[in-house]
Order: sequence, then C-alpha cells, then structure tokens
Amino acid sequence: MATNAIEAIAGERRRVQLAVSGVSKHFGGLCAVEDVSLSVAAGSITSIIGPNGAGKTSLLNMISGVYKPDTGTITLEGRDITRARPSEVAALGVARTFQNIALFGGMTVLDNIMLGRHVRMKSGILSSVIYWGLAQREEVAHRARVEELIEFLQLQDLRKQPTSALAYGLRKRVELGRALALDPKVLLLDEPMGGMNQEEKEDMARYILDVNGAWGTTIILIEHDMAVVMDISDRVAVFDRGRKIADGTPGEVQRDRAVIAAYLGTRQERAEAAE
Ligand SMILES: Nc1ncnc2c1ncn2[C@@H]1O[C@H](COP(=O)(O)OP(=O)(O)O)[C@@H](O)[C@H]1O
Ligand SMILES: [Mg+2]
Repeated sequence: MATNAIEAIAGERRRVQLAVSGVSKHFGGLCAVEDVSLSVAAGSITSIIGPNGAGKTSLLNMISGVYKPDTGTITLEGRDITRARPSEVAALGVARTFQNIALFGGMTVLDNIMLGRHVRMKSGILSSVIYWGLAQREEVAHRARVEELIEFLQLQDLRKQPTSALAYGLRKRVELGRALALDPKVLLLDEPMGGMNQEEKEDMARYILDVNGAWGTTIILIEHDMAVVMDISDRVAVFDRGRKIADGTPGEVQRDRAVIAAYLGTRQERAEAAE
C-alpha cells in the first residue's frame, strides 16, 4: 500500500513536464501576472482562458523566455528555464505561435515552415564547407520532415505560394507548421483560432488534436472559444486580472463558482455566484 502510494507520487512527478511556480511579472505599476503556479502533464492539452488583459500571453512569454519573471521559477522536465533565452527554450523543445501572425509574407509556405526547422539544423557554414556531404544529407532529412508536415497540414497545393497571398485561416495553419517544424515536446499556442470562422476553427481544433495524438506533443493553448476549449482540453486554467482563479478538468471549471462569477456564467448566473 505504502509502496504503491510512493510509486503513484513518483509517477505523478514524472508526468509533470512543465512546472510554473509562484511566477509574477510587473510592468511599471501594473501587475500582469501575480503569483501563478501551473503544472502541465506530459502529453496533455491544457487551455488557459480568461478575459483580455488577464495575463495569459504574458505567461506564455515567460515560459518561452521572451519575458523574465520578477519572482518564481519555471522548470521543463525538472530543468530550470526561468532565465533561459528564447533560443535556449526553443532548443530544449518548446515551440510557440503568436497571437498576431508572425510569418515572412514574401516567403513561400515551404520556406516559412523550413525556417522553423533552423534550430534543429546542426551544420553551420564552416562545417557545411568541410563536411558538405554530411550537411547535404542533413538538409535532405530536414526537407523530408518539412514536406511531411506540409502534407499533415494539407498545405501541399500551397507550398510554393507566398504566405501573404493566403487567407487568414491558412496563414494561421502555416504558423502552426512552422512551430511543428521544431519537433517540439511542448507547443504553446496563443489564440490559434482567433479571428477564424467556424469551419476554420474546427479544422484548427482537429489539427491540434492530431498533433497531440500523433506525436504526444504537450499543448498549452490560449483560446476564447469555450466550446472548443471544453471539447479538446484535459485541463483548463482560468485567469482573471493576473491571477489564476481556477484550474481543473473542463467539467470542474465549468462548475466553479469563482469562474462563473468572473467569466463564464450568464449575467444572472454571475450575480448569483457572486452573492
Ligand atoms: N510588454 C508589456 N509592457 C507593458 N505592459 C504589458 C506588456 N505586456 C503585457 N502588458 C500588460 O499586461 C497585462 C496582461 O496582458 P496580456 O498578458 O497580454 O493579457 P492577455 O493575453 O490575457 O490578454 C495587460 O494589462 C497588458 O497591457
Ligand atoms: Mg493575449
């Protein structure tokens, strides 16, 4: 019994892939993120929801190394990445997409996705000159992986198109492809369905589920569409004014009085829950 309990605890610890602990971030007098902790299990889909300005993007920025927290720690598989640079975090297998599309519009779909691969490419210019055969083999392998992703995302017919020529939903999909080109262990998606129509949202939700299913990629998703969030998430963390006010399964979060009061309920339900 005792051994089982210890094993269970050890198993639980092993499963935590990304741990945010007591993290805060201020901008001048504004507290964007306040004492937030979050444990993300390997292979899970965790959604972060909350009103605009709640601190969701700031948290992703701290995980990906863009912002440094004022307090607290962030660990990836037990390794402290609190002060790591974005390139270091990426090299450890954390990829992200941005709330506002950040593609190179003049470049093709293929080249934009290939760019996401560059941290995986070991051969620098010097070694490519000396070991050109090796570098060529590496290039071929990377191209093959990128073509595989293009097929996975059903972008074959568009691979030579400049991304600026694509519809919004497709550009979002190319961004996902670029993040996937890193072969990430952890994928951070900041409103990947923002501005999409219903059909595009459903497509994106399916790609997210397929990525998680096919490669076991851990996913942290910021999303406003509650139907999608409740449908695809293993866990949901709710943010309000810089704080995490709830964290649980979709069912638990939907029943949480604080969440209903702050965010999810109808006006009537919010008033009742706040009493
Ligand atoms: N670089 C920054 N400089 C100043 N204020 C910022 C910066 N980044 C975010 N903020 C502020 O922090 C708060 C949280 O923002 P953000 O994390 O973008 O929220 P969310 O993604 O939940 O909408 C907002 O009030 C925002 O204006
Ligand atoms: Mg945001």
